[in-house]
Amino acid sequence: MPDCVAASRREILAGVSASALTLCTFTNSGAQTAKSIWPKVRPAIAASVDMEAKITALMARMNVFQKVGQMVQPEIKNISPDDAAKYHIGSVLSGGGSWPTGEVDGPLAGWLSLANMFYGASMDTGDSRLAIPILWGTDAVHGHNNVMGATIFPHNIGLGAANNPGLMRDIGTVTAREVAVTGIDWTFAPAVSVAKDSRWGRTYESFSSDPKVVANLAKEFVLGLQGHPALGNFLSQQKVIGTAKHFIGDGGTTMGIDQGDAEVSEEELYKNHGQGYVQTIGAGVQTVMASFSSWNGEKLHGHKYLLTDVLKIQMGFDGFVIGDWNGHEQVKTCSASSCSNAINAGVDMIMVPEAWKAFLDNTIRQVKAGVIPMARIDDAVRRILRVKFRSGMFDDGKPTAHELAGRAKLIGHADHRALARQAVRESLVLLKNEAALPLSPDSSVIVTGPGADNPNMQAGGWTLDWQGRDVNSKYYKGFTTVKAAFERSDFTVMRDEAARADAAIFVFGETPYAEMDGGLDSLDFDVDLSAIKAFKLRGMKVISIYLGGRPRGLDAVIDMSDAFIAAWLPGSEGGVGLVDVMGGQAYDFKGRLPFDWPHSSDSNFGEGAPRHARGYGLSYAKIAP
Ligand code: GLC
Repeated sequence: MPDCVAASRREILAGVSASALTLCTFTNSGAQTAKSIWPKVRPAIAASVDMEAKITALMARMNVFQKVGQMVQPEIKNISPDDAAKYHIGSVLSGGGSWPTGEVDGPLAGWLSLANMFYGASMDTGDSRLAIPILWGTDAVHGHNNVMGATIFPHNIGLGAANNPGLMRDIGTVTAREVAVTGIDWTFAPAVSVAKDSRWGRTYESFSSDPKVVANLAKEFVLGLQGHPALGNFLSQQKVIGTAKHFIGDGGTTMGIDQGDAEVSEEELYKNHGQGYVQTIGAGVQTVMASFSSWNGEKLHGHKYLLTDVLKIQMGFDGFVIGDWNGHEQVKTCSASSCSNAINAGVDMIMVPEAWKAFLDNTIRQVKAGVIPMARIDDAVRRILRVKFRSGMFDDGKPTAHELAGRAKLIGHADHRALARQAVRESLVLLKNEAALPLSPDSSVIVTGPGADNPNMQAGGWTLDWQGRDVNSKYYKGFTTVKAAFERSDFTVMRDEAARADAAIFVFGETPYAEMDGGLDSLDFDVDLSAIKAFKLRGMKVISIYLGGRPRGLDAVIDMSDAFIAAWLPGSEGGVGLVDVMGGQAYDFKGRLPFDWPHSSDSNFGEGAPRHARGYGLSYAKIAP
């Protein structure tokens, strides 16, 4: 283990780079070649001589403008289809909360018609342009979550608690179908992050702190999302391209600082943060997204050893590396509009939402000046075209002609919601139960608390918009909140909160957040206990339900409640899934903690024993370990 004198979180957040403040001494394993640590991964997709010949022939007709254009990914708000065609742009993205008409409740058809416009423009061979279809990528990370009315699955932390590989594959399949309805080709999922410090604002995007769980669930999700040659459905029109992200070590930064520094040995990097890439590459994932974070002080977007020597040469990844949202600008000597270092390090497509034109011009200049070797450009373009050929998009015609295009009934389909409801049930972790659950069928309940009727809190970030906070709850179509689910159930719901009922269901949790907005100094979570105290004084059982993106220090709430359920961020079917299990008639608790659950006093995360260790969870049938 390294010997580190870590600086205070505040000092690091003050902008002084972690490596300058952390005096870690590692045995420098850099001297070992990649071979000694990283495995060669057997390719899931056999190389095709014919396809490579097609790519060679196409590239032979491409000039430097057309090649570099393929490597640039603007955001849809900042480029028109005509300009995408004019500058030979290879891909566009829609970020969190970027809707084609600019309105969250715009017509569903708006997605497909914009996809059609981008595709049509990219295939227009006017002005002797080459017909190379454009790829549209989006963050469908827990269902097609930017689309109103879509099925919203539990975030990864809940799916890690469920730890059901077959369920994960089905979720991948359904997610792909709902994305395909809108004409989009590619989702930036799954995150294969292994969150080691729950103060990280992206803990909920991680399945678990256990690398094996992460690897196994991510593999299954990719198989559902993309299909597989052995299943005869690889990148069929019901499938979409996946992304293993964020390469590498995003969940292992010191103090869980987002975009911080993973100060670990190379062996630990592989053992703790590399398993998801081994399994998803083995399952055929076609893209990998570079991480904003650093490894021992060097930004991943500029890390040639990891991006090229390890990922591509040693592990044999033959898809393409996509940068993260202006992630290249954090690399030495770089800006949003110029970064030869990222391209030379091995980023094949640069996600440059706004400054795409300047980036294009600068990169072409750098190629002509020899700052970026033509061989590097050719490697990147070949990888991008290989994924496009594998996806069939050269032959599938315009998005509106695709098999599932415009089939609006698939969005939020009852079968999809039933799958999400199952996922909710299996994700719930029962931390405490003193003769409170299951509720007897004739129970009377009061359902209260800030999360009782709160779809935003129920879904968390990456829902309708980036942070999950700013879209009015009325647009969360198809959601069933906890309160609504109880009201539709056979239980008697007392509307008068002063009444005496058999049990009070107190629902509370974290205000939604995404990425750096979710960073914490301490996991302690102060909750107003007055409601719980009042119910206890009236002799009622109190069942507390926590909605949040990570374990928090909640000793007082847990100690005062008769039962406590960690529901994580359960999504659109959260209410019904909870009622299913709380009634206990047909379902029992199955979820087990995917991360350690701290004590409230444990503000220095990692010191002192957790309140409950990873793997803990009670059920009606038995007391789990
Ligand atoms: C974000 C995230 C990444 C996401 C990308 C596009 O900053 O880091 O996970 O896929 O930008 O929205």
